Amino acid sequence: MKAVEIKPDIYWVGAIDWAVRDFHGYVTPNGTTYNNYLILDDEITLIDTVKHDFAEIGISNIKSLIDPAKIKNLVVNHIENDHMGALGIFMKHFPDVTIYTTARGKQGMERFFDTSKWNIKTVKTGEELKIGKYTLMFIETPMLHWPDSMMTYVKEAKMLISQDAFGQHMASTARFDDEFAECASHAELEDAVIDYYANILMPFGKLIKSKIKQIQDLKLDIDMIAPDHGVIWRSEPERVIQMYLDMAEGKTNLRVAIIYDTMWHSTEIMTQPIMRGIKDEGVDCKVIKLRATPMSVAIKEFWKSRGLLVGSPTLNNEVFPSIAEFITHLRGLRPTNRIAGAFGSYGWGGGAVKWLYQEFQNMKLDVVEPGIQVQYRPSPEDEEKCYSFGREFAKQVIEYHKKFQ
Ligand code: FEO
Repeated sequence: MKAVEIKPDIYWVGAIDWAVRDFHGYVTPNGTTYNNYLILDDEITLIDTVKHDFAEIGISNIKSLIDPAKIKNLVVNHIENDHMGALGIFMKHFPDVTIYTTARGKQGMERFFDTSKWNIKTVKTGEELKIGKYTLMFIETPMLHWPDSMMTYVKEAKMLISQDAFGQHMASTARFDDEFAECASHAELEDAVIDYYANILMPFGKLIKSKIKQIQDLKLDIDMIAPDHGVIWRSEPERVIQMYLDMAEGKTNLRVAIIYDTMWHSTEIMTQPIMRGIKDEGVDCKVIKLRATPMSVAIKEFWKSRGLLVGSPTLNNEVFPSIAEFITHLRGLRPTNRIAGAFGSYGWGGGAVKWLYQEFQNMKLDVVEPGIQVQYRPSPEDEEKCYSFGREFAKQVIEYHKKFQ
């Protein structure tokens, strides 16, 4: 796909990655895009580069508009490899360019490249760069989601180039949210936003709230949000901002995610009466077998639910390995505003359920105790107990959910 004009003299010149399915361990069933933006002004300015593998496409897109040697300014909003990987190749085409980035961006850049001959200027929040009819304003967003991160606001275009924030891993011929909604649906797009937030931004809810407030306090007039992944928000940019605020404030669905794995189906059998008990209390429930589900999908389903039930058999006195992997992912994402419980089967010595409650405690999650354990195979009486456990868990989830209404 060639350059696309998104505002007068401002072009998307990025790359669509239709094939990527593993994004540093995060499953991307819909691929992704690496967006960057070229502003044809008195000083021609490029904002961000692309992933290394797409350097040729990126340069070709720029060449479809201008000679890359004419680029005067290069803004690097974020130094993660998917946005800066092509920088070394791009710089060979830009003999007379000044790079603008944060101080942490410069430090990181020096670790990736030999920058000794590059002209790099560091910027801070509120600093401006007049490039002709357009003025760029820089907004640092440290730890959203790397220390170097920042956004660039193009004042006269009312356009916020938001880097990873508000992005989605979604390869599409649509460049804008309204185009995507026409050919697919808004619901699909919103699910991609939740997926991205859950797997990348979950640990930073407090920061997200304060940064959005800071941007609102700056009273920036924004009618377009252009992230570095997925579609550009032009029809209702305030909608995705509100989605972020809602997620950062802990809003989610009155729903329980049962995430389990199983050896000889005993733990799996337990999921069914538990699920029925939850449903009979009027609470929606999603049952997810881990070995049949990518980890990032399980994380998203957790994030879309107020309650979490984890089911694990005990193997060699330990939790089942796939469950341990899930908990490792979850712990790193520092979840909040969720209530959890555990269940599982064992042969001659339990351990998994106890381990899970210890992990919930380490994560400071609210819990419903005790969990429920079954030896070898659930009997009809055990299934009745599982059903009652499901009902009790759902009741507590309903009460807990009220705090967020
Ligand atoms: Fe899309 Fe943090 O990189």
